[in-house]
Amino acid sequence: MHAGPQNPLRQGLMEDRAGDACAVVIFGASGDLTRRKLIPAFYNLAVSRSLPSGFAVVGVARRDKSQEQFRAEMKEGVSNFSRRPIDPGVWADFERSISYVTGTFESEETYTKLRAHLEELDAERGTRKSRLFYLAVTPDQFGVIMRNLKVAGLVSPAAAAPGDPFTRVIIEKPFGHDLASARTLNDTVAETFDESQVFRIDHYLGKETVQNLLVFRFANSMFEPLWHREYIDHVQITVAEEIGIEGRGNFYEQTGVTRDIVQNHLMQLLCLTAMEPPISLRADAVRDEKVKVLRSLRPMEPSLVQTNVVRGQYAHGYVKGEEVIGYRDEPNVDKSSRVETFVAMRMFIDNWRWGGVPFYVRAGKRLARRVTEIAIHWKKVPHGLFQAPDGGIAPNVLAMRIQPDEGIALRFTTKEPGQHTILRNMAMDFRYGAAFGSNTPEAYERLLLDAMRGDATLFTRRDEVEEQWEFVGHVFDAWRTDANAPPPLYPAGSWGPEQADDLIAHGGRRWRKP
Ligand code: BG6
Repeated sequence: MHAGPQNPLRQGLMEDRAGDACAVVIFGASGDLTRRKLIPAFYNLAVSRSLPSGFAVVGVARRDKSQEQFRAEMKEGVSNFSRRPIDPGVWADFERSISYVTGTFESEETYTKLRAHLEELDAERGTRKSRLFYLAVTPDQFGVIMRNLKVAGLVSPAAAAPGDPFTRVIIEKPFGHDLASARTLNDTVAETFDESQVFRIDHYLGKETVQNLLVFRFANSMFEPLWHREYIDHVQITVAEEIGIEGRGNFYEQTGVTRDIVQNHLMQLLCLTAMEPPISLRADAVRDEKVKVLRSLRPMEPSLVQTNVVRGQYAHGYVKGEEVIGYRDEPNVDKSSRVETFVAMRMFIDNWRWGGVPFYVRAGKRLARRVTEIAIHWKKVPHGLFQAPDGGIAPNVLAMRIQPDEGIALRFTTKEPGQHTILRNMAMDFRYGAAFGSNTPEAYERLLLDAMRGDATLFTRRDEVEEQWEFVGHVFDAWRTDANAPPPLYPAGSWGPEQADDLIAHGGRRWRKP
């Protein structure tokens, strides 16, 4: 087994959180997600001995294939995408937990077969009548799968006591297309499952650095008093990607970056940055605080959208020296498409902590660098004692780098050694890789384990999803009436359209070039 680098800081770290015994059933098992993310995540949980002793994973999909074929495909997925190489001993054990059921999602027969198979697994593998259904399918298939599961008697009510057999469901994004469709989907889910059985995945919440936001904010006393409108000038949140739409033209034409990234990942980062301390780490205590942030967001009325939102679309350009085509030349994209691949917004959280503090957020494809970070910009010193370049001392910035190069950097001003008082901006820089080694768990490992343990803290609750849609819905409404205005183009490999710079240029503010 790969032991990872020996590092004294790892001593005492716990790897002993095991899930509860269950069979995981993946609908849509022949899709990319299963071999790229889900099975590699389960395999890594097996390596770190976090799987329960009673465990099985069952793939369900339309394509007819033998058990051997499915297992071989999954092994290939693990070889290509797992963070740890295959250990033959662990694999041999783990492989025995994988099986496959062929069938369409519409046919009742699929569920009869599945039920018989799950009963066999209860007897053979000790899965104790507990089921975790994973819907790795498009949202239009949720309804039919859930109804059929219910008809086949595969859904039991929410478990009454810890340790009782359970039925839970994990749902992948996109969770709706707008507020109305998200509500309809939520209603459909609620016909079969109690909210406590529903685990909506936003994989950003499973990232180590995102979880660390809570620890950083609420396990250190020195930042919290300064985390406030009195001291903070503004906050910047960036989710920048170098990649384009990666062959997903049809999907992107329906989605755009606001639905793909802002409505979920970016708004979750915003909530964790801005929320009040929860009274505990119980799932609902944390989610209650996040919902309060979402409810405090100033609604983007049409006039605000004009002045507070900038969209853009990538044109031909060079990303890290490599020539890439523009969005409209991507396969399955309309030659005159107005879909946004970049968006920047100035948002306000109208509550006591944040009143008047702008949150500048941006997300985009084909930008100069892949970087996700949250940067807190404190106010300038009130009186300039020192002569400094640019006529002022650069304000303090705390940058929490979510990925890549995970870490936390605090910028402060210092004196250069010498006879003159020359000021320099320096950074105290903490790097996860250097401190803990770079082989950190993938987001899906944590999320799958939490779902097996019934801990919904890192999953999105119904009201959260709906609030997120409500906020971006106003932006879509304004864009609809503005349908003739094409988004400004930006060259691939840049930081977005110039208009985004104008959005933030106020009182000397500008986007960080991370
Ligand atoms: C997905 C989006 O949810 O997140 C993709 O659909 C995006 O378009 C991806 O590329 C980014 O995830 P990560 O973990 O690579 O930052």
